[in-house]
Parts: sequence; structure tokens; C-alpha cells
Amino acid sequence: MIGSLPLSFVIESIRPKMSSGRMCIVVLLTSILLTSVAPNQRDSACPPQCSCIAFQVVCDQQCFNQTQMSSVFDNINDHAIEILVTGNVFPNMTEELFWYNKESVRSLDISNNSIQILSSRTFQFLSNLETLHMADNTISMNPISLFRKVPGVKDVSMRSAFQSISNGSYIVPNLTEIFLDVDLNSLRYLDLSGNNLSVNGGFRSLCNARQLKLLKLSNAGLRSLRFNTDCFSQITEIDISLNEIDYLDAEDRSALEAMPKLSMLNISLNPFRCDCIAKGFITWLQNKSLSFNVVDKDRVTCSGVSLYNINVAEIGCNSLLGMSIVNGRLTSWGLLSLSVVVMISVMIIIGIIVKHKTTLARKSYRLLKHLRRNDYRSLGIEEQEFEEDVMIYAV
Ligand SMILES: *[C@@H]1O[C@H](CO)[C@@H](O)[C@H](O)[C@H]1NC(C)=O
Ligand SMILES: *[C@@H]1O[C@H](CO)[C@@H](O)[C@H](O)[C@H]1NC(C)=O
Ligand SMILES: *[C@@H]1O[C@H](CO)[C@@H](O)[C@H](O)[C@H]1NC(C)=O
Ligand SMILES: *[C@@H]1O[C@H](CO)[C@@H](O)[C@H](O)[C@H]1NC(C)=O
Ligand SMILES: *[C@@H]1O[C@H](CO)[C@@H](O)[C@H](O)[C@H]1NC(C)=O
Ligand SMILES: *[C@@H]1O[C@H](CO)[C@@H](O)[C@H](O)[C@H]1NC(C)=O
Ligand SMILES: *[C@@H]1O[C@H](CO)[C@@H](O)[C@H](O)[C@H]1NC(C)=O
Ligand SMILES: *[C@@H]1O[C@H](CO)[C@@H](O)[C@H](O)[C@H]1NC(C)=O
Repeated sequence: MIGSLPLSFVIESIRPKMSSGRMCIVVLLTSILLTSVAPNQRDSACPPQCSCIAFQVVCDQQCFNQTQMSSVFDNINDHAIEILVTGNVFPNMTEELFWYNKESVRSLDISNNSIQILSSRTFQFLSNLETLHMADNTISMNPISLFRKVPGVKDVSMRSAFQSISNGSYIVPNLTEIFLDVDLNSLRYLDLSGNNLSVNGGFRSLCNARQLKLLKLSNAGLRSLRFNTDCFSQITEIDISLNEIDYLDAEDRSALEAMPKLSMLNISLNPFRCDCIAKGFITWLQNKSLSFNVVDKDRVTCSGVSLYNINVAEIGCNSLLGMSIVNGRLTSWGLLSLSVVVMISVMIIIGIIVKHKTTLARKSYRLLKHLRRNDYRSLGIEEQEFEEDVMIYAV
């Protein structure tokens, strides 16, 4: 083991073959070699089965468990700038995992590790952190004031981070609690997609990131926005695709218009309606003077029709029972009204039949009498038999 040999012994053993100039290089190289293999020297260590290139540490898809992960984090060297640890299983992301001083770390990716527990203390030694990705985890409670120790963070992804895989239920993150007591003035990119934000005020309570530029809230169960415009004065891109939004009301529309820097809005793949109720929204959407660009327009549809191809003038608002026909298609409202009309008509007809049943029976009997008589004659049946049959029919 070269690591256990005294440095002087190594130098002595090679001295006779070298000049003094070369000697320095060898001493230098030897000491580098010795430091790299010396135990408890964490300057250039690399956790087993991980790859460490320059200042980057990658432990990808190793399926490490909780115990193994503690040793992985212990062995990350003190100069690492970028740490990527994904595809493992360590539910308890405790404060102890980053026990050592990790001020050098700028970027941490702990996505897809089945993490259930996180706290503000988890990142307490990562005071210079800028990028924090923790997508695809199963965080099962609100990590209160999660970002308190990393106020300089710029780019945060919590995409599908609160999804419970054990029983298929969703944890509804309370952003008020997660962002409690911290001003995230450095935050520029925030991805909260794939989490159920439909209750707890959703992201409406989010006002700690006033310099935010990009906000992703795709697939988050949202029905409306209720953005607090004052909190998002720097925002340039908003993604609210794949939600439950059926139209944006006047309040949501003016909030979007009031964002001075907004340049890109993704509202694709929402279940929009195109009846009287959404008329104002569709008119607004088709207005060429909107100050921002709506992307993926061909996927902004109501029952398969692009909202950009709808002739707003054709959306009926005062027609029979609110029935609306848009470009020859019945909307859901229209269909509902139509079925109500059909049901009422059927009921009226049944009512008439019940009320006049005796008159109707008599009329039809008289009408059929001659025909039936002819039938019976051609079959050669007796007159009496015919009369009996007629009696049964009349009853
Ligand atoms: C973690 O994995 C190691 C090696 O496979 C095993 O010895 C250890 O018991 C495991 N620990 C837990 C808590 O599952
Ligand atoms: C998450 O990690 C598992 C291995 O632990 C892997 O099979 C899976 O593909 C990963 N998922 C994603 C979205 O990366
Ligand atoms: C998580 O780990 C910490 C430190 O080891 C421990 O104190 C805590 O009880 C653990 N929590 C759970 C739920 O296992
Ligand atoms: C599903 O899991 C969550 C989090 O682990 C738990 O709070 C909830 O009670 C579970 N629901 C059912 C029906 O087991
Ligand atoms: C979530 O935050 C709101 C404040 O917006 C608070 O009133 C509520 O009690 C919180 N809910 C939970 C479940 O913690
Ligand atoms: C979101 O959470 C609410 C409240 O817990 C629940 O009613 C709703 O079904 C959830 N949505 C999804 C898509 O899980
Ligand atoms: C808009 O959202 C959809 C669905 O989430 C996504 O597939 C698409 O790439 C987004 N468009 C842009 C330009 O980001
Ligand atoms: C379109 O938007 C502009 C600017 O907001 C507004 O002045 C105009 O009235 C709008 N046009 C229609 C048809 O709503």
C-alpha cells in the first residue's frame, strides 16, 4: 500500500536515478498521489460507484438505500460544485446527509429518490446553492420554510415532488408553509408542475419570489388563476397547460394583462368551453393586440375545435334555453339544453296519450275494424269468433 509508506522512503528509493530538477516534480506528484488515497482526507474523494469529473459528482441510478446514501454524502469532496444524485431510494433526507461544510456546492439534483422527508435544515450547509432540483419524489408533508438556508437559490424544480406512489393519493403542498419566512429574491425559475395545487390557496399565496421570470404550473389541477399581479411583476413566461381551466374570467384576464413583462403564455390542453359563458374569454384570446404570445395555439381547443377558429359572433347567448351552436357543433351546454327539450316533449306526448286513451282506443278500433273484418273473411273464420276477438281487443 503506497498510502501507508512514509513519504521520505519513497523519495529515498528513487533518488539515485534522478537529477534535482526532476526530483521536485516527483515529490509533487507523489504528494498528490498520497493525498488522493489517504484515508479521512475528503479533499478529492469520490463516493464508490459514483463518477467524479472536475467539480461534478454524479451518482445516477445506483439504487442506493438510506444507509448507503449517508456514506455517499460523507464521501463527496469539499470542492464539489455540482452534485447529481438520482434514482436511489432514501426516504429520509435528513439534515445529517450534508453534515460537512459544502459551501462550494452551487447545483444539487436529488430528483427521483423516493424522498419523503425534507426540512429547512436539510440544506443548511449549502449556503451558496443556486440550482435545486428535487422532481419526482414522494414528499409526504409540507417541508416548512424549506428555503430558509438557501436564500440565493435561482432555479427550483419541485415537479411531481409531492406525489405519493404508495397509495396513489396526492399530497396537496401548502406553499404558504413551504415558502414561509424567506425572501427568495434570487429565484428566477420555479417549476411546481405535476403537483395537486387545487386547494390551500394553491400558489395564490406565493409572493416570496418577486423577481421570478418563469413559472411552470402545468398539470396541477388548477381551475382558475387568481394571480397576485404585484407578486409577479418580473414574470416573462407562465405555463398553465394541462390544468382544469374551462375559461379565464375577467379577473384572471386582467391579471395577465397587468404583468408588464409577460411574453409567453402556455394554456394548451385545458378543457375549454366555447359557449356563452366563455364568449368574453374567446374574444379576448382572439384579440391580436394581446401583449404576450400564446404558444401551442392549435392545442387551445374546446371539444376538438381550436378556439382561434371559432366565430365569436356565432356563439349564441339568448337562444332557446341557452342552447349554443358553435360552427355547426353543439357545445356541452347546447347538448344539455337539447336533451332537456327532447325530454319535455316526450313527457308532453305521453301526457296527451294517457289523458285521451279511451278516445284513442275507440278511434283506432274503428279504423282497424274494416281491415280486420276483411282479414277474418279471407281466412274463412266464423262471424262469431270475429266478434269475440273484437270484444277482447276493445277491453
Ligand atoms: C442497504 O444496502 C446494503 C447493501 O446492499 C445492506 O447491507 C443494508 O442492510 C441495506 N440497508 C437498509 C437499511 O436497507
Ligand atoms: C427513477 O429511478 C428508477 C430507478 O430507481 C428508474 O427506474 C426510473 O426510470 C427513474 N425515473 C425517472 C423519471 O427518471
Ligand atoms: C430521519 O432521520 C433523522 C436523523 O437520523 C431521525 O432523527 C428521524 O427520526 C428520521 N425520521 C424518520 C421518520 O425516520
Ligand atoms: C395515502 O398516503 C398518505 C401519505 O402517506 C396518507 O396520509 C394517507 O392517509 C394515505 N391514504 C390512504 C387511503 O391510505
Ligand atoms: C395552508 O396555508 C394557509 C394559508 O394560505 C393556511 O391558512 C392553512 O391553514 C394551511 N393549511 C394546512 C393544511 O396547513
Ligand atoms: C387534488 O386534491 C383535492 C383535495 O385533496 C382532491 O379533491 C382532488 O381530487 C385532487 N386532484 C387530483 C387530480 O388528485
Ligand atoms: C406547452 O405545454 C404543453 C403541455 O404541457 C407542452 O407539451 C408544450 O411543449 C408547451 N409549449 C411550449 C412552447 O413550451
Ligand atoms: C383588443 O385589445 C385592445 C388593447 O387591449 C383593445 O383596445 C381592443 O378594444 C380589443 N379589441 C376587442 C375586439 O376586444
